[in-house]
Amino acid sequence: MATVPDLLAILGRGSPARPAALRAEFGVSPQTLGRLVAEAGDEVLRIGKARSTRYARTRAIEGLGRSVPVSRVDEAGAVASAGTLRLLRGSRTFWDRKGGGTLFEGLPPALVDMAPQGFLGRAFPARFPELRLPPSISDWSDDHRLVALAARGEDCVGDLIVGDESLRRFVGEGPGEVDPRSYPGLARRSAADLVGSSAGGERPKFGAFSEGRHVLVKYAARGDEGASRRWRDLLWCEWKALATVAEAGRGAAQARWMDEEGWRFLEVERFDRVGARGRRAVLSLASLNNEYLGSPDSWTAGAELLRRRPFLLPPEDVARVRWLDLFGQLVGNTDRHFGNLGFLVERDGTLRLAPAYDMLPMILAPAGEVVVTRAFEPVAPRGDAIEAWRDAATWAERYWHQVAGNDDLQDEIRRFASRAVDAIIAMGRRLGPG
Ligand SMILES: Nc1ncnc2c1ncn2[C@@H]1O[C@H](COP(=O)(O)OP(=O)(O)O)[C@@H](O)[C@H]1O
Ligand SMILES: [Mg+2]
Repeated sequence: MATVPDLLAILGRGSPARPAALRAEFGVSPQTLGRLVAEAGDEVLRIGKARSTRYARTRAIEGLGRSVPVSRVDEAGAVASAGTLRLLRGSRTFWDRKGGGTLFEGLPPALVDMAPQGFLGRAFPARFPELRLPPSISDWSDDHRLVALAARGEDCVGDLIVGDESLRRFVGEGPGEVDPRSYPGLARRSAADLVGSSAGGERPKFGAFSEGRHVLVKYAARGDEGASRRWRDLLWCEWKALATVAEAGRGAAQARWMDEEGWRFLEVERFDRVGARGRRAVLSLASLNNEYLGSPDSWTAGAELLRRRPFLLPPEDVARVRWLDLFGQLVGNTDRHFGNLGFLVERDGTLRLAPAYDMLPMILAPAGEVVVTRAFEPVAPRGDAIEAWRDAATWAERYWHQVAGNDDLQDEIRRFASRAVDAIIAMGRRLGPG
């Protein structure tokens, strides 16, 4: 005679099971299986209806239980339910939403993007010792991520808020206005792991609400030589690259740079925020790729895959990604990884390309404290991208001219820029007139 422990043992072993398979395993009637499931209580979750019904074994996280509410904040700052995240054995989650739910092998992609990571995320365990999370986020499991999101996740990337405690914090406190003159102080505190916010990325930064906008502020410390000097110049180069992308009509995050007390700051307006409290849904190509895409080898290949259902990335956005990929290569942005391309998620779940961000000649980035100058070569475009390449090359040339002409930058960077112009022109010649 099958018992509840038998059912739990079988469901604990693998992926969610169909009723027919369970009945065959136990040799019991539908009624008996129904009784066993009912007796198992919240340790077993029924997923789907009628013929697509499956049963899964749930898991509990200390302090959270077996499920966590998810809320969504719209552009006006209004909060609504976005369903419940049910926690399953084997790291799986089931996002239970109106009109059906979705099973994920790990965390849903949006939550992967939201979890603490990079420079800012590393400060999380020290900022919130009361949560007793492992001090190094590289040791975290998904359960640790969920604890962090549910307890201190009121200001994450995108429009979602996980858990009631984070929701209370979001509803309770509005962002405090910060004056750019206090950026040096914030930079010092961010370097000492004291200020947070929610964006990933490895470079030093902090988040602020300034002049009515949420911004990410990247910074470079004072210093006329070595790595800090190089990073300071690169912040200007990043500002110029974003401005060039915008000028070319390809859409870039609004940015401005400023010097305060010898520090340099690059302030980038967040596209996942509207005013003080409004939010927009975003997903990175990295999290989309993990869950849905297989293994594209570039931004362009990733965007091609996102044309299909349910993402339906419009052709003009696919073309923009291709352009950004080409322009990025031509301005020495060697860091075109999938975390550096973002998408806005429309209400119907389709995607639009977000404004470009983190676009700069990372080829000139110091290796730790060592300033290095690597060789730059434009890469010949594929046959189907020659026209786009010519256009991107025109803008990249213009970009490097401006870098070369800025006498505030170190000579080494300016010489590099002049050589880049020559190399792009030479490649253009080899391709012949358009
Ligand atoms: N303008 C923006 N609006 C919203 N999110 C952004 C914006 N710029 C960057 N981000 C998010 O913040 C992360 C870190 O920013 P990024 O500029 O890539 O920093 P890093 O140079 O450290 O990689 C990005 O991966 C992205 O998720
Ligand atoms: Mg980045």
